[in-house]
Amino acid sequence: MLPPILKNLRIPVIGSPMFILSGPELVIAQCKAGIVGSFPALNAREKDGEPVLLDLWLTRISEELDRHNQANPDHPAAPFAVNQIVHRSNARLERDLEICHRHKVPIWITSLGARPEVNEVAHDCGGIVLHDIINNTFAKKAIEKGADGLIAVAAGAGGHAGPQSPFALVQEIRAWFDGPLLLSGSIATGRAVLAAQAMGADLAYIGSPFIAATESRAQPEYKQMVVDCGAEDIVTSSTFTGISGNYLAPSIRNAGWIPRRCRLRIRRRWISAPRPAASRKRPRRGARSGAAAKGSARSMRSSLRARSSTGWQANMLPPRPLSPRFKARRCCLRVSPAWPARHGNVVARGAVYACPAPRKPW
Ligand SMILES: Cc1cc2nc3c(=O)[nH]c(=O)nc-3n(C[C@H](O)[C@H](O)[C@H](O)COP(=O)(O)O)c2cc1C
Repeated sequence: MLPPILKNLRIPVIGSPMFILSGPELVIAQCKAGIVGSFPALNAREKDGEPVLLDLWLTRISEELDRHNQANPDHPAAPFAVNQIVHRSNARLERDLEICHRHKVPIWITSLGARPEVNEVAHDCGGIVLHDIINNTFAKKAIEKGADGLIAVAAGAGGHAGPQSPFALVQEIRAWFDGPLLLSGSIATGRAVLAAQAMGADLAYIGSPFIAATESRAQPEYKQMVVDCGAEDIVTSSTFTGISGNYLAPSIRNAGWIPRRCRLRIRRRWISAPRPAASRKRPRRGARSGAAAKGSARSMRSSLRARSSTGWQANMLPPRPLSPRFKARRCCLRVSPAWPARHGNVVARGAVYACPAPRKPW
């Protein structure tokens, strides 16, 4: 269910806020074209002693859109949105909230943390809050803290993006939430907008394609790069901000980095069980534990279980064992029968297991 302010958009799209690149020119052009335009409040930066730029931008946007609406009553402009980075590191947040409250900003987009006090300020001036999230857990937290709608930032989105498939993300959120839901991640055509709606989203949330727009504040070379690059040129990396994000390989190269080295390596969280000194020696290459060697038709699970009992392989078990017994092996290493006397370990099925923390394994 969409709130009235988002109901009559000519195109079901919100132009997403982009650091440095979106300013009043882009927002005004987007709103006049019938989609919600937005910019990060932090883009409005004045030098010391200069008038507050955020104040000036909001005045300019409101006045130009009012003029447009008076001249085009049949095609009124869409509302605009301001993005607040609500992370504690944003020292300007309080000042920016006050300015946006004074200007009665109609749509507030919050990112990097959900804060009830920010939502209250937005609601107090009649605005709605859309919070961007990358998974279902954050989605639930955002709604609990008072956001009105969600922006699902799925795999493939420009800037800080989540790793999840849009299908999975929208499906999980729609299982419990029937409020405004936006979807982002490589949406660039009418077909993709329709697909987002077919999946269950209300609106598409689009950023990267607008980088190349005349009104965007990107440099001409960067606009050309966005036009020239394809999906294979996108590098997912946490190197630059500490949070996983998508970047264009040529822009990484231009900044003096090697894109290949910046790619995010998703490490599997191997189970780390302490290894007794005796088991640290690597076995001969190709050697297999007795149980694993018995039959090549063994299931993967039983093979792993058997291998875990040889000790050195215990820290290579998959992270989510299914049975309680399998779980027990996470913390247990098979050791020599002399071990329990000194360490008070567990004897099970004729074998002795060393437990890092004493507990009953099964
Ligand atoms: C260059 C760039 C800068 C961005 N800066 C911000 C930002 O300051 N705040 C924010 O909430 N999202 C930011 N984003 C993310 C977008 O708001 C949005 O999630 C994303 O662009 C959607 O995916 P798409 O680019 O594939 O359309 C940025 C994205 C890009 C490409």
